[in-house]
Amino acid sequence: MKPILFITQKLPTEAVAELHDVYEVRMWPEEERNAPREKLLEEVKEAQALWTMLGDQIDRELFELAPHLKIVVNLAVGYNNVDLDAAREHNVIVTNTPDVLTETTADLTFALMLATARRLVEAERTVRNGEWQAWTPMGMTGQNVHGSTVGIIGMGRIGEAVCRRAQGFNMEVIYHNRTRKSLEDADYAELDDLLKHSDFVVILAPLTEQTKGMIGERELALMKDTAILINCGRGGIVDEQALYEALNSNAIWGAGLDVFEQEPLPLDHPLQTLSNLTVTPHIGSATVQTRYAMMELNKKALLACANSKPIKNRVC
Ligand code: DGY
Repeated sequence: MKPILFITQKLPTEAVAELHDVYEVRMWPEEERNAPREKLLEEVKEAQALWTMLGDQIDRELFELAPHLKIVVNLAVGYNNVDLDAAREHNVIVTNTPDVLTETTADLTFALMLATARRLVEAERTVRNGEWQAWTPMGMTGQNVHGSTVGIIGMGRIGEAVCRRAQGFNMEVIYHNRTRKSLEDADYAELDDLLKHSDFVVILAPLTEQTKGMIGERELALMKDTAILINCGRGGIVDEQALYEALNSNAIWGAGLDVFEQEPLPLDHPLQTLSNLTVTPHIGSATVQTRYAMMELNKKALLACANSKPIKNRVC
């Protein structure tokens, strides 16, 4: 009998094909929705392997129901949706998808900086809504990206990739990180100094006990009134109520968010009413090439586990 693999969202057939040789593959049939919690908890009672998405809560309750579980592969570099302590206690291996999404996520981060600073979404809407009356001297004016200062919070692989892009825009780069790094093109700054001096504050940190709520009312008040906040890290790092107040009162100039405390962002969320905010639906790594590369890493980990080979990209 083959071990059971449960996949919580529909993945492309070709990404999964090879796994049928070694697993009995059970895959939730919907692409737009994760398997409901009850279904996941039912499947883990038998599964030896789980292929999970960011929207799945892989918590202690789940591990306690999963006597056969050996491995969880998470289709993301971030793994804040997985309780690693509980995984360790239950001897379950957890893997993620580092490196392959670095440049793609840096592209999206830069795209959000440009889109927000140059009001691209708002400008496009003006054209399509027939509101474009004439060229006007101050119409649709934004903020310069080139030559500005970007402050990166969380200088990991993606931060360094954003830093490389910033060189092409002649930007000054400062960063704040758990540990200081010796970087040629970026200087370390204490958080408050970074917030005071940056034209773009770019969050690329993971969500941890230390980063949770790191940017709140006090921190936003330190930013320049011409500054733009970009978050491509995790939603819980920014206090969204405080951000709403700061944007609504023009205490900061704009924000671009790819991640939110609650995903999907509810339609009636106050942030949805703001015109100085650009929002995207957590698409940092969403290119065809990168998503296939991420699935490949997860698939290799599953195959290695089934064949009792060393497993790469373990986070525990
Ligand atoms: C990740 O992999 O953690 C990203 O947030 C997904 O886009």
